[in-house]
Amino acid sequence: MSNDFEKAKASAAKEAIKYIGGSKTIGIGTGSTVGILLKEIRGGNFLDKVFVPSSLETALILSSYGLSVANPISVKKLDVYLDSADEVDQNMNMIKGGGAALTMEKILAHFSKKRIFIVDYSKLVKRLGEKTPLPIEVIPQFTSMVLEELREKGYKAAVRTMSKAKYGPVISDLGGLIVDVTLPKEKELTEVEKELKSIPGIVETGLFLNMVDMLIVGWENKVEVLKSSFLY
Ligand code: 5RP
Repeated sequence: MSNDFEKAKASAAKEAIKYIGGSKTIGIGTGSTVGILLKEIRGGNFLDKVFVPSSLETALILSSYGLSVANPISVKKLDVYLDSADEVDQNMNMIKGGGAALTMEKILAHFSKKRIFIVDYSKLVKRLGEKTPLPIEVIPQFTSMVLEELREKGYKAAVRTMSKAKYGPVISDLGGLIVDVTLPKEKELTEVEKELKSIPGIVETGLFLNMVDMLIVGWENKVEVLKSSFLY
């Protein structure tokens, strides 16, 4: 990742922590942008906050920074959710799950009063699926059945495998397999979401539709705070 992207992520992260304000319970996503955000949080005054992480990775970082980590079972609602994304379109719909934490991320985002997403400018796309496939989480025992049904419904899909450190499929923190699906150009996003969620064995999809309350985009030399639909 070039320095420009790192700078863009860091400026978006710096902006995001301004909006934590009086929030007490904070949901946190997973990934390299979130890693930068966590460094900002570490440098701030957030020892009185309770963080609910979307992954073991994020939990470990939070705890190594001396911040309070809560299990979601002890929380009824989150005040704010902070995360990044793999792609964001012009209507602020997103693809998430590059880090395989899509299910936890979607649940935490859903149960948050306010959802803030931070991205560097490379994540902005005209159409979702332009640069990345759509990750879905599948119950491992049903992978063959799910793949077959996806094929029958016209989707191209492949089990995500590890590139380093382990042979075989990527397993999420929840024990699911990650399958990457090519988004068909001819289908509406809502139709894709409905179709995928109607297949038993698919736990969740990385399509985040209408889930953004605030989008913070870091550019090389500026930060944009977008609160509603926008064009670029
Ligand atoms: C993890 C995610 C991440 O938010 C997404 O993959 C972006 O990651 P990064 O900040 O490393 O580019 O959805 O499941």
